[in-house]
Amino acid sequence: MARATHLPKFTVPSLSLEEGSQVAKVLQERLNALNDLALTLKHIHWNVVGPHFIAVHEMLDPQVDAVRMMVDATAERIATLGVAPHGTPGALVAERTWDDYSIGRAGAIEHLGALDEVYEGVITAHRKAAADTEESDSVTNDLLIGHLHELELFQWFVRAHLESSSGALSTDGATTERGAARKAGAAS
Ligand SMILES: [Fe+2]
Repeated sequence: MARATHLPKFTVPSLSLEEGSQVAKVLQERLNALNDLALTLKHIHWNVVGPHFIAVHEMLDPQVDAVRMMVDATAERIATLGVAPHGTPGALVAERTWDDYSIGRAGAIEHLGALDEVYEGVITAHRKAAADTEESDSVTNDLLIGHLHELELFQWFVRAHLESSSGALSTDGATTERGAARKAGAAS
């Protein structure tokens, strides 16, 4: 990518141009992940069916709104660091390292099982990005930690639908969206 070989002409005070470039690179991947998540949440909002339709349909829109705010703040932090954020769908698809969400029209619990997997991936990578920027840029670290407060809460909202009264998740042991959807559906 051009950004990896061209340093920004400026960055925030106290960071070297190399550090600014490196932090922006970490943030670009988070921007892609959050844009992807916002679209995936809307896709589920539109494709959920069954008796729990309205609860899940309506639960997701505030998550979309919150994630879109995270998208904006992430892109603007990249620009603040002196780097041009990539915000187009083509760049997202070219740069991302994960597959498209794999489920179309399906029951609410199946989608929530799969969405738990989606949040698992996004949160794990977000925590790594926060750790990777802790030394170099405390402001970016703080931004990512702020996102995690909300993302982990949203994952709990999803998991509460998959949780038994003994506290076990019906999707326990699943490693794919489809696998998690199957387990969640079978337990419901
Ligand atoms: Fe809607």
